[in-house]
Amino acid sequence: MTVSNGGALLSLKGVHRHYVSGGVVVRALDGIDLEVREGEVVMLQGPSGSGKTTLLNIVSALDSPTSGTYHFDGELVPSAPAAKKRRRISIPTPHPALRLLTWPPEAVLNLIMWLIFMIPHYLRYTLPRSSKLEKMTDFRRENVGYVFQFFNLLGDLTALENVILAQEIHGGRDKERALQVLNMVGLAGMENRFPSELSGGEQQRVAIARSLAKSPRLLLGDELTGNLDSGTTEQVMKVLVKVCRKEKITAIIVTHDGSLTKYATRVIQMDSGKLVGDEPGGRAALHATMDTAEAVAQAAVGVVEKAVKSVGGLLAGAVSNVLETESEDEEEA
Ligand SMILES: Nc1ncnc2c1ncn2[C@@H]1O[C@H](COP(=O)(O)OP(=O)(O)O)[C@@H](O)[C@H]1O
Ligand SMILES: [Mg+2]
Repeated sequence: MTVSNGGALLSLKGVHRHYVSGGVVVRALDGIDLEVREGEVVMLQGPSGSGKTTLLNIVSALDSPTSGTYHFDGELVPSAPAAKKRRRISIPTPHPALRLLTWPPEAVLNLIMWLIFMIPHYLRYTLPRSSKLEKMTDFRRENVGYVFQFFNLLGDLTALENVILAQEIHGGRDKERALQVLNMVGLAGMENRFPSELSGGEQQRVAIARSLAKSPRLLLGDELTGNLDSGTTEQVMKVLVKVCRKEKITAIIVTHDGSLTKYATRVIQMDSGKLVGDEPGGRAALHATMDTAEAVAQAAVGVVEKAVKSVGGLLAGAVSNVLETESEDEEEA
């Protein structure tokens, strides 16, 4: 279903995600209403256990809301109900008298009872859920890049091969694009190094390049600089916002590092599964200025194009008049 998204790329309405743990309900998300526009770089902050990772998991369709809706670019994002704990099925023990019979043996009887219980469960619940999970995976593949705190690079593959492997998993290798994204994160010339030959910051930049390799519309980071020193964190964040800006990628980045809000266009605070703060970040004004500059530049290009077209039209008209007059003169002669 398509709804009017009012310019928002992400739109969450009344999203709850509850877990039942040891008989207690944990409200990891407790009524989230959130809209994020294309191109925003959002920093998500809040104490441990406030629901930040759960929110990223919902936004990337790794997980589904218990209730509420999530639209991405106006489309309802596929979801699947949380896996139910399988109920213990108590299969009645055959009457002791049956044991005296040589056929059917107890095992066969148990198997028949099991099939009678499990086949409807499989058809009604397991099968539809797995097709919904596939749709969620497709959504993620098409739209989302994820960067984690631990870089998760494969040590036996070079930087370039790590990026290409991610492309292959997502359905197609494109070496030129892989080199382009490595170049964008400032690793030109280091493509053939193994992770052990790169610093922490460089490894995280490979991980960012890997998440960008399939041109996602949404980039998510969960404490992605948590393992880096402050100097390297700055470098990685600078690269990240530059690339997001260049490729028009929307980003949501979880961080507990308050100094990073200068890289954000918007800073959102969470507590106990709720959004408790929403303010412009350090780049808000810069983005707005750049957006305005871009709009002005586009408008100027439009005006110039129109002018060129109309001058071109006038010239073409004049030339064809001359030619027509000449050919009329020739005919008369
Ligand atoms: N699979 C799970 N089962 C039960 N409780 C969970 C599960 N995942 C997260 N939680 C709980 O949900 C709350 C939010 O967790 P999380 O989103 O990981 O917080 P944050 O990322 O902000 O630290 C916490 O109380 C956490 O214990
Ligand atoms: Mg977390």
